[in-house]
Amino acid sequence: MERLEKEIKNGIENIRSRNFWRVSVFDRLDSTNDYVKSLLSEKSEGEVVVARTQNKGRGRQNRTFYSLDGGLYFSILLHPTDFPIDKITPMSAVAVRRAVKSVFGRDLAIKWVNDLYLNDKKVVGILAESSFLCENVAYVVLGIGINVYEPKEGFAPEISDIAGALEKKFGERRGELLARVLDEIYDCYIGGKDYLDEYIHESYLVGKNVLVKVADESVEGLVKEIDKDCKLVLQTENGERRFLSGEVVKVVV
Ligand code: BTN
Repeated sequence: MERLEKEIKNGIENIRSRNFWRVSVFDRLDSTNDYVKSLLSEKSEGEVVVARTQNKGRGRQNRTFYSLDGGLYFSILLHPTDFPIDKITPMSAVAVRRAVKSVFGRDLAIKWVNDLYLNDKKVVGILAESSFLCENVAYVVLGIGINVYEPKEGFAPEISDIAGALEKKFGERRGELLARVLDEIYDCYIGGKDYLDEYIHESYLVGKNVLVKVADESVEGLVKEIDKDCKLVLQTENGERRFLSGEVVKVVV
């Protein structure tokens, strides 16, 4: 058995939410999100697919998510009936934040909508994609990429200014981290544990000047808060604007 597979098997063995998840580990996939999507007709909620590396890891806007050995790359299949689909990303950002705090003792800041930062560097990206198996049956493929250990070969030059890792030195705690994330997601998704408060208060952006891109529009302003609907509240030259989605393309640190 490969090292990561062993780590993950040990990590998830005794977790509280063990019965909810079915975890498979691969050495290499193109993208765990794409792989889970290809399984929609045969698998059900709770499927978790982990890959040690990805050839074509994807981020939002179809950007590349560099996925060298050292990270934790996985996708989860959910079939939300009671849980609001538009809150899957905020909920999982908080779940990852809690897990990282408990395993590595690090406090990550949440960059609306779907990234987590450590010392001004991106260490986590989340990509939740809805899929429809047949009409009105919505599935969510929730993909999470965590830069746990800095890759031995370093980050690719294109991202070396913005990407960071939880730990510089390689270690063996990816299984423990996955186990913790799964428990935290389960607590919120099934157990109804609160995540909104943390999503609102642990923001990377509040108090910073940013440029937000929504469709064809770019809007500049000062981030006042993340509101209770998880909207970004921006003070612009022309008054206050609230965004439910969009992308912060520039942050003035
Ligand atoms: C982003 O930064 O815009 C989101 C990145 C999401 C990356 C994860 S890694 C596991 C899963 N598989 C993918 O291809 N993407 C997600």
